[in-house]
Amino acid sequence: MKKNYKFLAMILALALAGGCGKTDKTETKAEPAAETAGSVTVGFSQLGAESDWRNANTESMRETFTAAAGYNLVFEDGQQKQSKQITAIRSFIQQNVDYIVLAPVTQDGWDSVLMEARDADIPVIIVDRMVDVSVPDLFTCWVGSDFYLEGQKACEWLYRHAATQGVRGHDLHIVDIQGTLGSSAQIGRTRGLEEYCKRYGWDLRGETSGDFTQAKGREVMAQMLVTYNNVNVVYCENDNEALGALEAIEAAGKHAGGDLQAGDILVVSFDGVNETAIQYCLDGTIGCIVECNPLHGPRVKSIIDTLEAGQMPDKLEYVSETLYSSFGSVDSVSIGGESYPVTILTQEVIDNRQY
Ligand code: AHR
Repeated sequence: MKKNYKFLAMILALALAGGCGKTDKTETKAEPAAETAGSVTVGFSQLGAESDWRNANTESMRETFTAAAGYNLVFEDGQQKQSKQITAIRSFIQQNVDYIVLAPVTQDGWDSVLMEARDADIPVIIVDRMVDVSVPDLFTCWVGSDFYLEGQKACEWLYRHAATQGVRGHDLHIVDIQGTLGSSAQIGRTRGLEEYCKRYGWDLRGETSGDFTQAKGREVMAQMLVTYNNVNVVYCENDNEALGALEAIEAAGKHAGGDLQAGDILVVSFDGVNETAIQYCLDGTIGCIVECNPLHGPRVKSIIDTLEAGQMPDKLEYVSETLYSSFGSVDSVSIGGESYPVTILTQEVIDNRQY
């Protein structure tokens, strides 16, 4: 029953993209086997299950796209492999789904399969990480985080926090446990750090991927503590890596905390989903966490509602996110003339969060 709305949306999308001469898919598509009459079929290619953030993201999609709400969700786990995600998208095209939702593991390498989806007239919604494509009309729209801004927020907080203790730029000896290499989350967060290192003369000792996992975070941090004897800041590109880094710091007989003058290792992190990490931020073991919001299910639903109504959603939708610290050292950070408050983490703040 929603095919008419969808067709109108596609006409509008093609007109906006300057496309012409496409096949009318309402005439050529076969009905997907598993679709319940009247439901909207959404093929979701999730990139994996590497972190608590990812699990919360999957849960948000599953909770939103239920049969009771009128959806038929076809979920595929890419297990961190782009090839698996490409296979999943091809299978969605064959199943003639109404919408494809893609959470891409890396930025590059999507052109061919997205052309296939475009040729099949299936709208593609990119969620969370971004894709780098040769022409913008290879996807309908994207919703997610500004990872570069997240990195800048973390670094500005670090700059200001260190300044309150009289610690100069070249006395910050930093290691970066990066996320999955080539993912936009890693690219944006690493870029933020590298720029601040250049700007303030921070000593960037090493950068190694921890694949956004706790086990790899521990392994990488343990090695870095052996290789570099003066590390006093670890920039973890997500909370699971931070938890692993904390294990390595403890095993090395060192102390994580906010007092750089006393010899603490200052931990900076991203996400704010894992409960233990949040508690570590509350007690000062982690210096600050830049939120990365995983609850994209309702956002994707709102995009689909817009398309079903024959309208075009915004091409890019950035989620606004909070910066948490339990230290009162920095009350806001300023980036590009914009001021972002630091939310002082308390138990009450934690209790009122959505996840
Ligand atoms: O793309 C979002 C990132 O991916 C989250 O920060 C991380 O935890 C996840 O694995």
